[in-house]
Amino acid sequence: MTIPNILGDTLTSHFDLIREIEIGLLDKSPSISPKFLYDPLGSHLFTAITLLPEYYPTKSEKEIFLQYKNEIIRTIGVGGTLIDLGAGNCQKAESFFNSLKPSSYLAIDFSIEYLKEAVTKLSGKYPHINVQCMGMDFSKKILIPESISENKRVFFYPGSSIGNFLTSEALHLLRQIKDQAKGGGLLFGVDLMKEESILKLAYDDPLKITAAFNLNILNSVNSLLGSDFNIFQFDHKVIINHNENRVELFIETLEQVTISWPGNSRVLKKGELIHTENSHKYTLKGISELLKDAGFLKTQIWTDSKDYFAVIYAQ
Ligand code: AVJ
Repeated sequence: MTIPNILGDTLTSHFDLIREIEIGLLDKSPSISPKFLYDPLGSHLFTAITLLPEYYPTKSEKEIFLQYKNEIIRTIGVGGTLIDLGAGNCQKAESFFNSLKPSSYLAIDFSIEYLKEAVTKLSGKYPHINVQCMGMDFSKKILIPESISENKRVFFYPGSSIGNFLTSEALHLLRQIKDQAKGGGLLFGVDLMKEESILKLAYDDPLKITAAFNLNILNSVNSLLGSDFNIFQFDHKVIINHNENRVELFIETLEQVTISWPGNSRVLKKGELIHTENSHKYTLKGISELLKDAGFLKTQIWTDSKDYFAVIYAQ
């Protein structure tokens, strides 16, 4: 078996993660970072979300990738290094291997544990591609190792994951990508603003899979922090924030509770909200301006038949 090259694990230390969670929980407006949604169960629940008929982003993006595949490949050009931000099971990137023909593939994710498995399978399947992986919390800083060829770096950031960031953070991330893409670019997906009823159903589905995904963050925090959240005392809540152009996810407290963990505690009143995620929705004008601000000079945009979602290659 071919063993993929692991380029080091820049994962934040356990201590820093615990500090980050504590600071969020003790804040006047409590919050938990969405990265804690993706423990092993959370990752599987997210996969289940992508299969829900109400969760349109995955389907719309797939439609675009299928319909415009040739045009997208022609725009990017074959070869180079494919850099996958938030690779997960690496499936989306793999679907581009045969057409894009990258000479190298660098898979990056927050959790290297989940990645290693996927990447090991890939390197056996594609022996002619130099497959590498890295653990990195790129929500803070993206740093591509110097050993990665500067020849043509094609960053891949599908699924509208960029929507998790505030506009200022997204701009910062895009600038770093532009600086490190060298002669390459960024192929990414972005969710577009649409009718409230469609957004509401996509993030508050009748089977309650999204509710389970969101509430599971409390289990994830319990195991990291040693806290005593009891899921029965909380509920999933979705707010469409029209001023900020985003869907906001919260955990609502159903009765007054005291949450305790080693060294600290927090009282949550009935009805109090813990913020867990923002999912920003863009307009084509808004995302084009953001890319221009980040230093991208040329952008090509593809949308699905309903104009729900956009795939963009920015250079
Ligand atoms: C993975 C951030 C793109 O915002 O739609 C799905 C996460 N949260 N349902 C999104 C998510 C609730 C998803 N992203």
